[in-house]
Amino acid sequence: MNLEYGAGTTAKIHLYGATVISWIKDGTEQLFLSSLSKMDGSKAIRGGIPIVFPNFGPWSCGPQHGFARISWWKLQKKEKLTDCCRASFILEGNEQTLTMWKHRFQLIYTVELRSSELKTSLTISNTGSEPFDFTTLLHTYFRVSDINECSVTGFKACTYNDKVAKEDGKLENREEIRINANVDSVYIGAGKEGHLIKSSGRAISVEKQNLNDTVLWNPWLTKAKEMSDFDDEGYLSMICVEAGHVSSRKDLHPGETFSCGQVLKMIDK
Ligand code: BG6
Repeated sequence: MNLEYGAGTTAKIHLYGATVISWIKDGTEQLFLSSLSKMDGSKAIRGGIPIVFPNFGPWSCGPQHGFARISWWKLQKKEKLTDCCRASFILEGNEQTLTMWKHRFQLIYTVELRSSELKTSLTISNTGSEPFDFTTLLHTYFRVSDINECSVTGFKACTYNDKVAKEDGKLENREEIRINANVDSVYIGAGKEGHLIKSSGRAISVEKQNLNDTVLWNPWLTKAKEMSDFDDEGYLSMICVEAGHVSSRKDLHPGETFSCGQVLKMIDK
């Protein structure tokens, strides 16, 4: 499904996972998509913006990161307004999700493309008669021209769980983080004033909505090689800055709704 703002500014959303797989601004791709990614619904798409729900990380009821990214969503609405193009997608509890998770739910995901912005918003509703709890995250893979020239801000003074070192409760003291090894950290309460991802020639800001935490991930060489769907050299041209509600579970009672999202914006450097 394509959104075309015009003037070389487009976005593409795959119905598998409602995964945004491309955001091109003025002719330049802003998201990383592995050339080895499966695109046929046999495995979560490796790149773009997979949606993590109802569980971040390993899950006792089903696959890692839950089922939203491996479910076929339906296009609900597509519209072109004066200053934006917008599409919304829907996923509801079905036979497949019920085998993993016995709850009735509705997810509405809206993607809005503006001249310099891509906004993705998720609304999670409990449509059943029992409460449930979840974690969720927008697993955004940003394309960078060279990871060695890239920096990201918005983590200073946050506590984080370092999944590589297997150490929880570390304190971040860096203003600007640069990546030069495998990084997999869950920052609690990060990006309150947003994140800024700078790489040669451009900068993108991430403004988070109702998503308290941010995961920073780059598999680096060895881990990249272990993944069959990740280009061996791909780690040099990507960084995942993942806005999420993951450090605690969110309770949702019958009839309740939780809304969250992010705005990605190209910034003039
Ligand atoms: C990140 C996790 O969000 O996703 C990592 O923090 C994980 O631990 C990464 O390796 C990729 O996960 P997956 O399931 O897409 O390989």
